[in-house]
Amino acid sequence: MKKLLHIIATPRGEESSTLKVSNVFLDSFRNSHQDWVIEDFDLSKEELPSLTVKRVDGKYLLLSGKDLYGDMKVAWQDIIAEIERFLSADAVLISTPMWNFGIPYTLKHYIDVIVQPKYLFQYTATGVEGLAKGRKMAVITSRGSDYSSAETKGADFQEPYLRFVFGFAGITDITFINAEPMNMGEELQKKAIASAQEKARKLAPQF
Ligand SMILES: Cc1cc2nc3c(=O)[nH]c(=O)nc-3n(C[C@H](O)[C@H](O)[C@H](O)COP(=O)(O)O)c2cc1C
Repeated sequence: MKKLLHIIATPRGEESSTLKVSNVFLDSFRNSHQDWVIEDFDLSKEELPSLTVKRVDGKYLLLSGKDLYGDMKVAWQDIIAEIERFLSADAVLISTPMWNFGIPYTLKHYIDVIVQPKYLFQYTATGVEGLAKGRKMAVITSRGSDYSSAETKGADFQEPYLRFVFGFAGITDITFINAEPMNMGEELQKKAIASAQEKARKLAPQF
């Protein structure tokens, strides 16, 4: 059975503007992919492994082309479990608000845990090779302000960062749906959510 992994990076649950859009994506996805399972991974409810010195040492060891051993190997079990969860997905949906022009710290923590040499990327004679290739990704975001115009685009460090880091890991088929602006008046918010929901409804069957 194929799997969609839904990574949730807002702590706001029912109040979340982002999830109002993602829920439409998921309803449409369920209709069009009846043989898929959807696994929610809520970053504000899960305890991710912290990047202790032992775990960071392990990363440098892997970067040098050696294998983990001893205490480091034990400390890395939690990291490998998260990587395996990520790689077990055939497609990924990330639901994330913009926080301070980028992503919430929980999502950054998750990325720091899973983007690891040997597992998500490797260095080859010709450069970096992403190892999570072949997966489709949708990223649904919401933002207080609007970053879609030529003048404001430069302040959006969220979409370029996520495109780059997952591209580095080999995932290049990424579609963004940005609901914006959420905090510049109720009318604008309603319109933006409805428009993002329509895009989400249409995108899901293409997965
Ligand atoms: C800690 C924090 C930082 C934020 N930073 C930004 C920001 O840099 N730019 C912006 O447009 N909105 C910012 N916002 C507003 C949120 O992006 C916006 O309200 C979004 O719709 C929240 O999504 P959610 O309801 O799914 O959590 C911030 C909100 C919080 C709580």
